[in-house]
Amino acid sequence: MSDTILKINNIEVKYHEVILVLKGVSIEIPRSGIVALLGANGAGKSTTLKSISGLLKHEDGAVTDGNIEFEGQRIDRKSAEEISRMGIVQVIEGRRVFEHLTVEENIKVGGHRRQKGFSVKDGLERVYHYFPRLKEKRNEVAGFVSGGEQQMTVVGRALMTLPKLILLDEPSMGLAPMLIHEIFNIITLLNKEQGISILLVEQNAKLALNVSPYAYVMENGRIVMDDTSETLRENPDIKDFYLGMTDIGSRKSFREIKHYKRRKRWLS
Ligand SMILES: Nc1ncnc2c1ncn2[C@@H]1O[C@H](COP(=O)(O)OP(=O)(O)OP(=O)(O)O)[C@@H](O)[C@H]1O
Ligand SMILES: [Mg+2]
Repeated sequence: MSDTILKINNIEVKYHEVILVLKGVSIEIPRSGIVALLGANGAGKSTTLKSISGLLKHEDGAVTDGNIEFEGQRIDRKSAEEISRMGIVQVIEGRRVFEHLTVEENIKVGGHRRQKGFSVKDGLERVYHYFPRLKEKRNEVAGFVSGGEQQMTVVGRALMTLPKLILLDEPSMGLAPMLIHEIFNIITLLNKEQGISILLVEQNAKLALNVSPYAYVMENGRIVMDDTSETLRENPDIKDFYLGMTDIGSRKSFREIKHYKRRKRWLS
């Protein structure tokens, strides 16, 4: 990868100085690329995103070894505020909207850190261009729009910061397939048209491997595999565990997979 926007170099992360969660994680994101980070519950995916955005520090967590470089500059000791000004935005898990504010007010919140030459009006126009559905709903109270529209709202808010890199934490969670499809189409467009780099955390591996050409697989705080999505899709372990397919191509039941996941957690 010649032009790398973000480099995570062998980081170790602890919460409360004693709970070791990431045990030597290295990830590279090419400029204007999409990279997926897959893994079961508790693997350390969100912790990885928080290490990049600096939000880790707000949860009494710290990068205790290794380092993170963004456009060649070390960022792991910087505050979340500084990191955000450099052009990194994290869309946190669970689509947190301000429920009593309107959709538009929610989006505008992202514009408060605006940069030179940026107007809220231009920002809103850009968001509505990519999310026409939000334009229709702009005066509705965010707490009452659908889950998918709330997810679009938080991505729209992130877009208002004019990011170079978006860290997306499970944007598909709990959404209907149609909406997931719509959101992922828009994410792909943002990447293609605006050149925004994306690190996508997903439990829905099938989806993630479809939108990202490259992916990392995390287990128990370590990267256990990384490869092109094309290769990963054919890997028997990935097929079995993450794609829910057996060798003969039949779908495993969700319960079987859940059971496997639970067992894996016990063993790890
Ligand atoms: N603030 C915190 N303090 C202490 N431990 C934490 C904290 N946040 C996360 N952890 C622990 O770190 C580990 C990794 O959590 P993390 O949220 O990064 O996993 P994840 O891969 O995002 O999981 P999920 O798919 O469930 O969102 C878990 O064991 C979790 O309990
Ligand atoms: Mg998580």
